Amino acid sequence: MIKTDVIVIGAGAAGLFCATEAGKRGRSAIVFDHAKRLGGKILMSGGGRCNFTNMYASHENFICENPHFCKSALSQYTQWDFISLVNEYGIKYHEKTLGQLFCDDTAKDIVDMLLAECKKANVSIKNRTEILDVKSLRGVESDSSGKPIGQSMRYLVNTSQGEFACESLVIATGGLSMPKLGATPFGYRVAEQFNIPIIPTKAALVPFTLHEQDKQVIGELSGISVDANAQCNDMNFNENILFTHRGLSGPAVLQISSYWEPGQAVEFDLFPNGDLHQDLIEQQSQTPDAHLSTALAKHYSKRFVQAALPYFNVANKPLKQYNPKELQSAAEAFSQWQIKPNGTEGYRTAEVTLGGVNTDYVSSKTMEVKNQEGLFFIGEVLDVTGWLGGYNFQWAWSSGWVAGQVV
Ligand code: FDA
Repeated sequence: MIKTDVIVIGAGAAGLFCATEAGKRGRSAIVFDHAKRLGGKILMSGGGRCNFTNMYASHENFICENPHFCKSALSQYTQWDFISLVNEYGIKYHEKTLGQLFCDDTAKDIVDMLLAECKKANVSIKNRTEILDVKSLRGVESDSSGKPIGQSMRYLVNTSQGEFACESLVIATGGLSMPKLGATPFGYRVAEQFNIPIIPTKAALVPFTLHEQDKQVIGELSGISVDANAQCNDMNFNENILFTHRGLSGPAVLQISSYWEPGQAVEFDLFPNGDLHQDLIEQQSQTPDAHLSTALAKHYSKRFVQAALPYFNVANKPLKQYNPKELQSAAEAFSQWQIKPNGTEGYRTAEVTLGGVNTDYVSSKTMEVKNQEGLFFIGEVLDVTGWLGGYNFQWAWSSGWVAGQVV
């Protein structure tokens, strides 16, 4: 049996970051992961360029049953701290929009940086390792072969590479999104083993699928993106939406999906930065013979207008033939479009998982379980879910960092 100060399960963003911090403090740390490839999600993220943080990250950009939980970690290790590290490594980046920072070249720069940090801190990474079980060593004095275990050892981790004992055990196995990249419910099972409840999980930051009648028309718009304000359950996001052959995607859709409940309608204002009704009134007085489709084509692609008018049940005639009420309804069809999604694409394509380990049972300052000394949960496995835009990685860095100071 191998003894070490710290074992981290999950070599993703949070796990690698935590192990590095522990290693820098002189703690011996081993990180286990069952995946062949390290940092799989980071490599895929941000379309291959990793949106590694957000300049405006604050606790308000996160969903958690306890809205105060993430404040401490986010303030102990901020986006500016991570940006300094990225600068130290000379990684080039840019702000894409809304404070979102992306690598100029490739997400691999971030993975390489994390691995270089691990190396500097003497962290041992063991991928392709199955975790068979995890046990508390409280009250246990010898390992399975009868050899005594040092008193400071608190956990035993049985793996496909043998038995390992540690003082601090960090669970960083992430959520359920993208099982193809190695996601498993392992972290939730460990939480349950230690009597920590799980807030029910759900795919989030995920495209909507549609009912058949909507899908037929919207499928025709596949590939078109329009600016929109998406609204549901008192939240709204002003970004753009993308029509796809499966349904609706794009940043505004992904954002609102985290707030949507099955059966609810989502309202889209497809003219979010102005007053479409006023615009049509003006066009009616200036070009009364122009068709509504021509007036709308000033703001949208022709292909979109051609499919949208019949879908919204709006007649296409010369503007002068619309009475004021009809013109208002035509504008509202675009600015107050309500649609009931059929569902979401689920964990297969979701960027994150809502819900997870109940944060009431975890210290917000260190991520240690309150009544279970030496056990920590960090990153997405916790019930902390960020908006789209670099917030989820910032949570991985911040929660990993604070745990790394005490493990
Ligand atoms: P993460 O999922 O990164 O790591 C968990 C690790 O645990 C994995 O390596 C996995 O193999 C391992 N593991 C799981 N079960 C195990 C088991 N039973 N045994 C051993 N190992 C196990 N966020 C953001 O801020 N900006 C962005 O640009 C993007 N883009 C993006 C794109 C895509 C396609 C996805 C799916 C997600 C994003 N995200 C994102 C979200 C972000 O990737 C995510 O929130 C973080 O990676 C979470 O970090 P963690 O370290 O908590 O889990």
